[in-house]
Amino acid sequence: MRSVIDILDLSVAEIDELIATACDMIENPKKYSELCRGKKLATLFFEPSTRTRLSFESAMYELGGNVIGFSDAKNTSISKGETVADTARMISCYADIIAMRHPLEGAPLVASTKASIPVINAGDGGHAHPTQTLADLLTIYREKGRFNNLTVGFCGDLKYGRPVHSLIHALSRYTGIKIVLIAPNELALPEYIKREVIDAHNIPCTETTSLEDVLPELDILYMTRVQGERFDDQAEYERLKDCYVLNAEKLKQAKSDMSILHPLPRVDEINVDVDDDPRACYFKQAFNGKQMRKALILKLLAEAESNKNDTRAPFLPLETNCCKNARCITKTERGLKPASIKTEYGLRCAYCESDLK
Ligand code: CP
Repeated sequence: MRSVIDILDLSVAEIDELIATACDMIENPKKYSELCRGKKLATLFFEPSTRTRLSFESAMYELGGNVIGFSDAKNTSISKGETVADTARMISCYADIIAMRHPLEGAPLVASTKASIPVINAGDGGHAHPTQTLADLLTIYREKGRFNNLTVGFCGDLKYGRPVHSLIHALSRYTGIKIVLIAPNELALPEYIKREVIDAHNIPCTETTSLEDVLPELDILYMTRVQGERFDDQAEYERLKDCYVLNAEKLKQAKSDMSILHPLPRVDEINVDVDDDPRACYFKQAFNGKQMRKALILKLLAEAESNKNDTRAPFLPLETNCCKNARCITKTERGLKPASIKTEYGLRCAYCESDLK
């Protein structure tokens, strides 16, 4: 069964097709308003969400379908010890497609291996958030009209910011992209993404701790929230949480057509005095997210009817669980056999993609 766990599960041609569908949906919403009649979306949210869950639900209603699900796992049999795998199997009896958010990295992938319906990763820990990336790409397309020849700055929590990881993967497939990483050392982008995505694609990349120094050169500034919920040390979070604050005064240094993106929610990293600036695109991103989720639901349901399957690299079983990531689903999921995938850089955990050294 075809699922979308990572943005690279979709080819560039498929992303173009989703963007074309989403643009048509914006122009002609009625054309799509009955296409999911009789279908059900299950939203399984084990972690808080406003935009992703409600935009998935709104998307399904606008397609004429229905929604079941939960936004708090405390009210489900997970609290009695049911596994992600069993939950996914059960939901396959009740719905046609799943959108899952989970704090553990790799949980939606585990669900996709057991579900008999498509699973969409709606964010897993600090790992990936492919449908946020679809929202980001539609926003870039509508603002800039292209994905090539852009200088994109990522600012803030690049360590835990899963939308950053997914968007860098997505942009690596276009030409003329330059990346500027703006973060304190403690929140730097994971090494494996620098090595295997940025360096492997020969993408020019600058790293800095100063937003002001690089602001004038950016076509897109992707701001992020420092993810307090992923810190083990709350004092460290307090020290870093306001490391970057974008405000109207600083924006005077930026290009007049720079686009400001943020996956939201924001805390203090974008001052409200930026909201009315024509360069602020973060509320448009939330709207675009719903359109891309509509397009993705339609695509996966159509593929499910024609029995299209994933083409994921084969898992290599491991004798012992050597994944050192405390937030990996292999740490808690009973009955889940540890596994690796082989890349040209070495072995990685098949579920959370951490290096296995
Ligand atoms: N951008 C995003 O994922 O927002 P939510 O956490 O509100 O879903």
